[in-house]
Amino acid sequence: MQKETKKLFPKDFLWGASTSSHQVEGGNHNQWTIWEKENADYLAENAEKLLKWRWKTPVWPEIEKDAKDPQNYISGRGVDHYDKYKQDFDLLNKLNLNSFRFSLEWSRIEPEEGQWNQEAIDHYKSYISELKKRKVEPVLNIWHTSLPVWFAARGGFKHRRNLKYFKRYIHLIQKEFIHDIKYVITLNEPNIYATYGYLLGLWPPQQKNVVAMMRVYWNLVRAHKHAYYSLKMAKPSLQIGIAAQLANIQAKDPHDLSDELSTKIMRFAWNWWYLHITRREQDFIGINYYFTDYYDGWFKRKDPKLPINDLGWYMEPEGLYPLLLRAWAHYEKPIIITENGVADMHDQYRRWWLEETIVAMERAMSEGVIIKGYFHWSLLDNFEWSQGWWPRFGLVAVDRKHGMRRTIRPSAKWFASWISKL
Ligand code: BGC
Repeated sequence: MQKETKKLFPKDFLWGASTSSHQVEGGNHNQWTIWEKENADYLAENAEKLLKWRWKTPVWPEIEKDAKDPQNYISGRGVDHYDKYKQDFDLLNKLNLNSFRFSLEWSRIEPEEGQWNQEAIDHYKSYISELKKRKVEPVLNIWHTSLPVWFAARGGFKHRRNLKYFKRYIHLIQKEFIHDIKYVITLNEPNIYATYGYLLGLWPPQQKNVVAMMRVYWNLVRAHKHAYYSLKMAKPSLQIGIAAQLANIQAKDPHDLSDELSTKIMRFAWNWWYLHITRREQDFIGINYYFTDYYDGWFKRKDPKLPINDLGWYMEPEGLYPLLLRAWAHYEKPIIITENGVADMHDQYRRWWLEETIVAMERAMSEGVIIKGYFHWSLLDNFEWSQGWWPRFGLVAVDRKHGMRRTIRPSAKWFASWISKL
C-alpha cells in the first residue's frame, strides 16, 4: 500500500497549506475592514438568524457568545501573521510541508492610487525569501477578495475602465516579485466573489443585481487574461492559473428531469463557464474543493443532513474524486488542489477528511489524472469573512485571546507524519 502511494505521489508533489492576506495578516485597511466596521453590530445581532438561514451550525451552544459579539466580525489584528510570518513558516517545516500559498495585500502595496508603498513591497520580498530559505515553494496569489479602498470606491471590478489600475498592479508584481516565483494564482474564486458581493448581497458591496454580477464576472475574465499574458511574456516558465471554487454537483435522483437539468446547468454555470473561456490561459487547473451539492427539484439544494462541519456544511471529502475526473476530462491540464479543508474546532473530522481526500487523489491519479499539489485550507485559524473568527479551519490553532498562541492540532501531526513516510 505504502509502495503504491509512493509511486502515485511523485517526489516533487507540492504538499502545502494556504492562507490569504486579509484573513491572517492583521492591521489591514481595505474595503473589507470598512465593511466589517459598518456591519459588525448587524451581523452580531442577527447571528442566529443568518446562520440558520443557510446551514445549521451544530456547535451553536459553544459559539453563541462569540457569534453574538460584534468583535467577532472585525478582522483587527488578524492572527498577527504580518509580524509573525517567520515563526509561522517554521511551522511549515515542522509539518513537513514543502509549499505554501499566500496572497499579496494590494491595499498595502498601493494604499493610495498610484502610490507604491516600498515598505510593503520589501515585506513581501523578505516573506518570499524566508519561505525559500526554509525550502518551501512559494505559490503567489495575486488577489484574494480584498481591495484597496480607493479601487473599491471607483466601483472595483464592476467597471471595465478600472482594469487599468489592476494592470498597473500586475506590472508592479512582474517587476518586483516574479523572478523568485514559479507558481502564480491570479485570482481566487471569481464565482464566489461575483455572486456573494453582487448577486446575493452577502459580502461588500452587497449588491443584488444580475447585470452587475455578470459585469464583475466578465471583468475578472479580462483581468485574468491580462495578468496571464503579461506575466507569461516576462517569464515564460511561470505556471499560472486561478483558484476556482468547484463543487461536486450531483442530482438527488438522476432520473428526475428537474434534478438532472438543474445539475447540468449548475455544473456549467458554477464550475466550468469561467474555466472554459479562459482555458488557454490556464497552465494548471486550481481547485478549491469544499462542497458536494445535491439538487432535488428545480435549482433546489437538498444535501444529506450528516455529516456536517461546524459551519453546517455537508461533508463529502471523496466528492473530490469525480470532480478531478471531470476537470481532467475537460482540460487535460495538471491539477493543483489550491484549497480544501473543514471548519472543525474540536479537530474531530479533519484527519478523516484528509484521509478521504488522499484516497480521492490516489484514485484519480491511478486513472491517469495528473495532480501536482495539494494545499490544505488553512495553515492557521483565520478570519472567515462574514462569519468572522469563530470557524476554525487551521491545521494550527490560534488562540487570539492568549498572545496569539499557535498550537499544532492532532490531525496536522498525523498529516505531517503521513507525508514523512512518502
Ligand atoms: C475561500 C477562503 C475561505 C474558505 C473557507 C474559500 O472559499 O477562498 O477565503 O476562508 O473558502 O470558507
